[in-house]
Amino acid sequence: MAEALRVGIAGLGTVGASVARVLGDKAAELTRQCGRDIVVSAVSARDPKRDRGVDLGSAEWFDDAVKMAEKADIDVFVELIGGDEGPALASVKAALGAGRHVVTANKALLAKHGVQLAEIAEKKGVLLNYEAAVAGGIPVIKTMREAMAGNSVTRVFGILNGTCNYILTRMEAEGISFDACLKDAQRLGYAEADPTFDIEGHDTAHKLSILTSLAFGTKIAANDIYMEGISNISQADIRAAGDLGYRIKLLGVAQRTESGIEQRVHPTMVPTASVIAQVHGVTNAVAIETDILGELLLSGPGAGGNATASAVIGDIADIAKSRPGFQHGPVFGRPAKELKPYKKAQMRSHAGGYFIRLTVHDRIGVFAAIAKRMADNDISLESIVQHASGPETDAQKTVILVTHETTEAAVRKAVDGITKDGHLTDKPQVIRIERAG
Ligand SMILES: NC(=O)c1ccc[n+]([C@@H]2O[C@H](COP(=O)([O-])OP(=O)(O)OC[C@H]3O[C@@H](n4cnc5c(N)ncnc54)[C@H](OP(=O)(O)O)[C@@H]3O)[C@@H](O)[C@H]2O)c1
Repeated sequence: MAEALRVGIAGLGTVGASVARVLGDKAAELTRQCGRDIVVSAVSARDPKRDRGVDLGSAEWFDDAVKMAEKADIDVFVELIGGDEGPALASVKAALGAGRHVVTANKALLAKHGVQLAEIAEKKGVLLNYEAAVAGGIPVIKTMREAMAGNSVTRVFGILNGTCNYILTRMEAEGISFDACLKDAQRLGYAEADPTFDIEGHDTAHKLSILTSLAFGTKIAANDIYMEGISNISQADIRAAGDLGYRIKLLGVAQRTESGIEQRVHPTMVPTASVIAQVHGVTNAVAIETDILGELLLSGPGAGGNATASAVIGDIADIAKSRPGFQHGPVFGRPAKELKPYKKAQMRSHAGGYFIRLTVHDRIGVFAAIAKRMADNDISLESIVQHASGPETDAQKTVILVTHETTEAAVRKAVDGITKDGHLTDKPQVIRIERAG
């Protein structure tokens, strides 16, 4: 049998401790699958005294993850510290520089430094595997990078943040407010004490930037993503969506258009009958549309110790199975040096249907004035109704509009016009409608 693969794990928190535990529990099965043993021979974390509920055997302890990456007797460095700078970046660079394979679950790191790290890995002839960085346990990276060779992707979109999907699911199922759902999510451990990163879309954007690069062969451009979170989604929106045959999801969408590549993260209305609308709670899903395959949808657990460990261990097993001297495939599906500059499509040119909810003064002529602003901007309406649900009083009414395909620029201009007309009693709500099968 080949020599054992020696693994060093940096970070023994939720994911790291699960990886160490599963590698121990499933050692015999992994040996059968990989044709060699996989042993944890080094570990690093901040607190050497903390009980992590896992037997780390005779693994050598390192206080310093960078030192472990450089000096430990390991073949694979597994980075599970987190963060886009500091010890995560320094240790991954050190490990690649020392010619060791790297496995990481760190989307923030890859969104910021992925291309640079891929260049180092490819130059050194080692693997940089990151299945767990996008949609946790769902094998989307492998699917896009390996199983879809020859396909040209036209659009990739998904529910990439379990916290947001949990909140939107409960808001719809129980009719409770965003704030109440968020508090509950925090109590149950589904949301961080500071939830901004999740609910304002940053976490989704990091993951989307990696999928975009894989889909279109472009350099990662996380800072170019248009982003809106879910904190201004109200019960009025959820109810109106339901009445119209839609469900609201926070989607990350990357799409090739005539003017460039759109990357956007925002609350989205998807048809209630679509497959992605059936993805509830903390579950994640990724839909990939290509010229040959059509649409593929993968769904499953997007976070949590065991689900994430499953993806990390899959990456380690791939390294265990790789043959010495074998030229590894490029990190983002194309050689890092050949990744094209990202050509950004402006959000104003986004084309699609729109849901617009307006709270207006209950006055004669308001309805007609709204319809005129739409017509003036060449927006064709699928429906315009004075909606029964919503924050109505004698003095105000809710008007719900659904447009046929139009542009973001036209919608913004029309809504600005309606606002200037002085008919609104509250901020207008605009939610994009996404085509989904
Ligand atoms: N949790 C999930 O469900 C999930 C899902 C997908 C991806 N991820 C990604 O996986 C990574 C780890 O997440 P996590 O949830 O496991 O985080 P976590 O529970 O906060 O664990 C972080 C670990 O890193 C260690 N650490 C911090 N600074 C260190 C340093 N300078 N040197 C060595 N170790 C250090 C900590 O040590 P101490 O324990 O001693 O404090 C801790 O063990 C992140 O990149 C995250 O985005 C997580």
